[in-house]
Amino acid sequence: MAIQLQQVSYTYADRSMWRQTALHGINLNIAKGSLTGIAGATGSGKSTLLQLFNGILKPTEGTVQVLDVTITAGEKSPKLLPLRRRVGLVFQFPEQQMFEDTVEKDICFGPLNFGFTLEEAKERARKAMTDMGLDLALLERNPFRLSGGQMRKAAIASVLAMDPDIVVLDEPTATLDPVSRAELIALLERLCREQGRTIIIVTHRMDELLPYADSWALLKGGELAFQGSGQELAADPAILERCGLTIPQSLRYWQAVSTRFGLGTEKPLLTAEALAERIAAVLEERKNAAGTEEMGSGHE
Ligand SMILES: Nc1ncnc2c1ncn2[C@@H]1O[C@H](COP(=O)(O)OP(=O)(O)OP(=O)(O)O)[C@@H](O)[C@H]1O
Ligand SMILES: [Mg+2]
Repeated sequence: MAIQLQQVSYTYADRSMWRQTALHGINLNIAKGSLTGIAGATGSGKSTLLQLFNGILKPTEGTVQVLDVTITAGEKSPKLLPLRRRVGLVFQFPEQQMFEDTVEKDICFGPLNFGFTLEEAKERARKAMTDMGLDLALLERNPFRLSGGQMRKAAIASVLAMDPDIVVLDEPTATLDPVSRAELIALLERLCREQGRTIIIVTHRMDELLPYADSWALLKGGELAFQGSGQELAADPAILERCGLTIPQSLRYWQAVSTRFGLGTEKPLLTAEALAERIAAVLEERKNAAGTEEMGSGHE
């Protein structure tokens, strides 16, 4: 497992009158090399959960195990600096993690901090820019003069430059137009499938991630309401409504098609292409069956 949470709770300002429990008794497993989506209504604890994954926050109760590092509430923590390099966290708002006057300096900051030479850091910056589909000419630009989409990708590149095993992204597509959103999800999927990284994405738009995610975790009021595959979600989409989420369109289409054609026992199909293929196949089967029947009745 890349990440394992056992009975984890997190309370902000634990010893004050403003204490606010954001997560309660979470048991969660995230497999190495998988692509996981995390969803939940606003305030359900998604961003809090992500910050437990690289030790920015430590559990108030329970145990967080990330790679070979175990953090247990109430016990002295191991050294967390190596974990910060291996688990890259891309914040909800990219401008929160850009602070230098050129993109290159921003991306090199992490590697330099972890002891790489300037030449190595620059090489990593170039590779990370390429992985994010960004033009290397942008390295010289001021990060705050980039477009929203470019800035988002540059923020991800600055995390990739550390060569992390796990990349955790908080609503990476939130402010992007539909074309850039699809493009970014495709880039993130490549980081998972081609480079073997564990990718965890918080999203309000489950539709764009459903065809790619291996598993989903749904939060409701700080509790884990569901963990499983998109297919399992498709079998019981009402759980989404109980979490205050709308049912994604791909699941609605599957529900409608499977009810209409009596496919309820089949594995749900979550892309338009797969659904179209299945409808075409059902119509073909029916046409052939009708033809056989006609031939049969002709002989009587
Ligand atoms: N720094 C903080 N101090 C006190 N309470 C906080 C802090 N950050 C978050 N909370 C509280 O913890 C709960 C969970 O917040 P969190 O930001 O994790 O939710 P979220 O699911 O990421 O929401 P959103 O979808 O709006 O980003 C909320 O009740 C929030 O008010
Ligand atoms: Mg959040």
